[in-house]
Amino acid sequence: MNTKIKICKNDFVVVLTGAGISAESGIKTFRDNNGLWEDHSVEEVATPEGFFKNPALVWRFYKQRYYQLADVIPNSGHFALVKLEEYLADNFLLITQNVDGLHRQAGNKRIYEMHGSLEETYCLKCKTHYPTNTINLAQDIPKCKKCNASLRPDIVWFGEMPYFLPEIDLALRKATHFITIGTSGVVYPAAQFLMLAKMNGAKTIGVNFNSPDNRNFIEEFHQGKSGELLPKLVEQWISQEV
Ligand code: OAD
Repeated sequence: MNTKIKICKNDFVVVLTGAGISAESGIKTFRDNNGLWEDHSVEEVATPEGFFKNPALVWRFYKQRYYQLADVIPNSGHFALVKLEEYLADNFLLITQNVDGLHRQAGNKRIYEMHGSLEETYCLKCKTHYPTNTINLAQDIPKCKKCNASLRPDIVWFGEMPYFLPEIDLALRKATHFITIGTSGVVYPAAQFLMLAKMNGAKTIGVNFNSPDNRNFIEEFHQGKSGELLPKLVEQWISQEV
């Protein structure tokens, strides 16, 4: 596994990650076998309609996922991206669709968590935000301490607007390199970032276990596990400078 694409300190590198990068930490991906939606349809647990229909069920689902975070730690793929950020500093941006916080835990700083975070909640009525570890999870539907309305997980559900889209748009325009890692390339708008960056002239790299749906837009594809491939790739990228 060798990379032909060079990365220098002056380049602007945008990385997009999905569930695959956390697979080696023990978090199930969405669309692989035994994926997270196994017992529930997407409509039940990942749409505003599902929440209004059965908020207790949706809360049960996200509480389980939140509690799981106590048992998982970042893997070598996450740590490789910390190394890349340390090398590139402000010329690095990490966009993640993951809500598990493992990139932050590993040490990445320049991150947009575009689908929200399991570690945050907010009130449906007054919009006050609460870290999940400060709310009463014993309640079937946790309540706001200010106005007693229902809280919801700060997760972007299907049909809702992902976070940081204007900032991401700007970053895609100036990206010299776009690296997509561990994402099936089927959920929009994230699936389109690769093509947009390529149209704007970025070199595109993919690291994925299976071939993603947007594979056609990837110039250099490394097939395999990100925890195994990324440390070697990052080592090559940061030692290329002459
Ligand atoms: P998926 O489950 O759709 O895709 C995971 C991808 O990671 C697949 O292409 C796998 O082949 C790949 N993969 C699995 N293990 C890997 C490993 N060890 N190393 C590298 N790649 C690996 O997850 P996402 O694409 O992240 O949205 O899903 C996107 C969004 O759909 C999620 O953020 C979520 C979901 O519905 C919301 O919740 C809004």
